[in-house]
Amino acid sequence: MDLVTQHLVQPDDLNYHNNLFGGKMLSWIDEGMAMFVMTKIQYTNIVTISMDNVVFRSPARAGDIIQIYGKVLKLGKSSITSKTLAITNNPETRKLSEVIESEITYVCLGENGKPYPHFRKFTLPT
Ligand SMILES: CC(C)(COP(=O)(O)OP(=O)(O)OC[C@H]1O[C@@H](n2cnc3c(N)ncnc32)[C@H](O)[C@@H]1OP(=O)(O)O)[C@@H](O)C(=O)NCCC(=O)NCCS
Repeated sequence: MDLVTQHLVQPDDLNYHNNLFGGKMLSWIDEGMAMFVMTKIQYTNIVTISMDNVVFRSPARAGDIIQIYGKVLKLGKSSITSKTLAITNNPETRKLSEVIESEITYVCLGENGKPYPHFRKFTLPT
């Protein structure tokens, strides 16, 4: 999997248990994977249609570095499904823990806001 993006967990990112708020993590993976996909497919008018099989595996805490990894799983006509995995990498202890995994599907839109079959013409380089 490719390293997609990284975030430092800051106090504002925490919930009242002092763990990273799950909604913040979801927004980081959605945004990071959207940029990853846009770059791979050379097309930016995409929307998220689904985030499937979201599993929160362990909590992250302030000071952890969240590393988000991704890969493309499959292309449809207008849709692209990706796999993402985020880990914490504690810079002091070097301890790695898996935080979340998910499969995220994005749909390419045309100018009319409807699904656009981008992958009829575009194939990913091997
Ligand atoms: C994305 C959207 C335009 C799709 O419209 P739609 O009429 O449902 O589209 P379709 O049923 O023709 O499906 C389009 C593609 O999405 C795929 N799809 C539909 N539902 C899906 C689901 N639950 N999970 C994964 N893929 C799905 C279809 O298989 C199809 O793929 P293909 O073209 O590769 O064969 C519409 O659902 C939408 O606007 N959703 C809101 C998106 C949004 O606001 N996201 C959050 C902010 S980015």
